[in-house]
Amino acid sequence: MSVRVIIGAQWGDEGKGKIVDLLSDQADYVIRYQGGANAGHTLNFDGQTHILHLIPSGIFHSNTTCVIGNGVVIDPLTLLDEIALVKKSDVDIEGRLLISETAHVILPYHKSLDKVGEHALGGQKIGTTGRGIGPAYVHKIARVGVRMMDLLDPDLLRKKMEVNLSEINTKLAAYNAEPLELEDMYQQMLDAAEKLRPFICNTTYRMHKALSAGREILMEGAQGALLDIDHGTYPYVTSSSPTAGGACIGSGLPPTAIDNVMGITKAYCTRVGNGPFPTELNDETGDKIRDAGREFGSTTGRPRRCGWIDLVALKYAVQINGMNELVVTKLDVLDGFETLKACTSYKINGEETTEFPLGLKDLDSIEPVYAEHKGWKESTRDAESYEELPQQTKDFLDAISKYLDVDISIVSTGPGRTETLVLSDL
Ligand code: GDP
Ligand code: IMO
Ligand code: MG
Repeated sequence: MSVRVIIGAQWGDEGKGKIVDLLSDQADYVIRYQGGANAGHTLNFDGQTHILHLIPSGIFHSNTTCVIGNGVVIDPLTLLDEIALVKKSDVDIEGRLLISETAHVILPYHKSLDKVGEHALGGQKIGTTGRGIGPAYVHKIARVGVRMMDLLDPDLLRKKMEVNLSEINTKLAAYNAEPLELEDMYQQMLDAAEKLRPFICNTTYRMHKALSAGREILMEGAQGALLDIDHGTYPYVTSSSPTAGGACIGSGLPPTAIDNVMGITKAYCTRVGNGPFPTELNDETGDKIRDAGREFGSTTGRPRRCGWIDLVALKYAVQINGMNELVVTKLDVLDGFETLKACTSYKINGEETTEFPLGLKDLDSIEPVYAEHKGWKESTRDAESYEELPQQTKDFLDAISKYLDVDISIVSTGPGRTETLVLSDL
């Protein structure tokens, strides 16, 4: 029996979907614990690509129960579309998809607020995914949110939507945006509620039953440590807690139940949206990484910003998550580079440090200090074992593992399920 949290150790899109799918083969439960349809988790197997936004990445393994935990914010319409897509791939989800009754609902008005909020920020905009994530979490924290269980109570739902909408329309008017009508939106939600009713339940007790029965549980994070509302590059963050602590809050499982925290990093670094990115490469090398890694957002299609791996930021992610397992993905993207770099310290106002700063001023003035590594000419995609990798590749991986003081458990050398080298007994 084990409980493993799987988190993004950078700014998201590290390959969480691929790794959760891979490990789901041995998992009884996969629970998503935060975020919403801002996530885009890509799975590649049998020559097909699937991008999941809300449904946990274990759904293609018929023995795995997938749970959308209380910490997630759910857009019912997106979820229904996703359920339909998954069913089209002949996946039987009856009894295998559970939705927390206390997860909060993203309503169409949250998406409108997301858009006007970004517009109002002008040059300082965050570059959100526009999925209504921030405004839905604002309502949750302000204690006026709609929960999945409220969707099943038509009178309560109408009351809550009415109260929220009157305040929202005042706000929209201040931005010269059109007011929103209650009736269509309300009907849409009632229809969606009926379709989702069979899946909605008390997932906390289900998870505790699974825990008592000694089941294998994976907890799937969305986004990444540096997008965490508390620990990330605030305000250029998402509105939830992707870090390991969020796994407890967003599932109802206690910290003492967690056995392992697996952090996923790319062999380089990317970020989508605005905000500090110390090792960003606005040059040909950055473009080369973007092309080789097909670095375009799984949710919004935006080009991702690319740069070298940042070990200072990763070490910070190791600490705040208690990471004891490391996965390095997209190693193949670095095939053919003459020289590779890894940031090992920062210079901030002339002072060298290995601490990740949390203020925007410091973050924006970082000059990265790099260690250089010899690249390799060979393709890593065909390697069938760690031993088969070129010596320079192993040296590069060793340097990452040593700096972070965490053993590497898995190396990913391509998007496919099978393009994976497992280094330790998981
Ligand atoms: P997630 O949000 O962390 O699940 O990551 P995304 O799915 O948004 O982005 C990762 C992208 O990289 C997807 O297109 C994956 O198919 C792809 N990918 C994952 N691992 C590898 C790898 O080792 N090599 C290559 N070339 N692509 C990979
Ligand atoms: P996965 O799970 C990468 C970024 C957005 C923006 C910021 C806030 O696929 O790794 P939000 O819509 O959450 O209010 O946007 O966070 N962001 C992501 N970046 N991967 C993601 O998810 C992301 N989800 C949000 O680009 O900068
Ligand atoms: Mg993604």
